[in-house]
Amino acid sequence: MILETIVSTINQKREVNFAPFGIKKKSKDVIISPYIPSITLQNLRDNNCAVINYIDDASFYVNCILGKKNFKKKKTQIIDGFFLENSLSYDEVVVKKIIEDSVRPSFICEVVKSVSKKKYDGHNRAKAAIIEACILASRVKLLKKKKILDELNYLSIGVEKTAGNLEKKSWEKIKNFILGKINESK
Ligand SMILES: Cc1cc2nc3c(=O)[nH]c(=O)nc-3n(C[C@H](O)[C@H](O)[C@H](O)COP(=O)(O)O)c2cc1C
Repeated sequence: MILETIVSTINQKREVNFAPFGIKKKSKDVIISPYIPSITLQNLRDNNCAVINYIDDASFYVNCILGKKNFKKKKTQIIDGFFLENSLSYDEVVVKKIIEDSVRPSFICEVVKSVSKKKYDGHNRAKAAIIEACILASRVKLLKKKKILDELNYLSIGVEKTAGNLEKKSWEKIKNFILGKINESK
């Protein structure tokens, strides 16, 4: 199973970077598999640690895609890093093994601390649809225009039926971002 999360890492200047990543869990390990190149990948190589932030507020995924990543953060306890203040929970992880690959290496990480902060209030289809749209946004260059428009159209059903105000705004932001990218490139 793949779990959608926001991974925070730091660079050599201790500047934090947040990015959405689908992670896997295997026994007590977390596996992060970033395509080459990415900031997260470089930070994992340089510092050997990360924070896996679990968050059900889809606006954070949208803002990552839009490059608006100046999120409130707090210092972690065990590793040198920061967690997302709005996360429901987070894992501090340390890289214990790298499986090298020319396209997408895998970082096998040990969880050294798990923190639960807030209650999870249940699944919302609009939030799931917005996260799907964020994945579409990160793949615009790889997909045909018709497929992107068809998928956006389908995802909009769940948004129209179940979104709150924040989700409505987030949906508009990510939809307009995707439409802008399509018009730029196709
Ligand atoms: C929900 C979601 C899951 C993602 N999972 C991955 C992943 O597992 N591996 C990856 O390389 N990119 C993944 N991406 C795309 C990265 O977030 C994207 O490439 C990002 O720009 C990397 O950021 P960075 O360069 O700041 O590390 C995902 C995007 C979204 C929206």
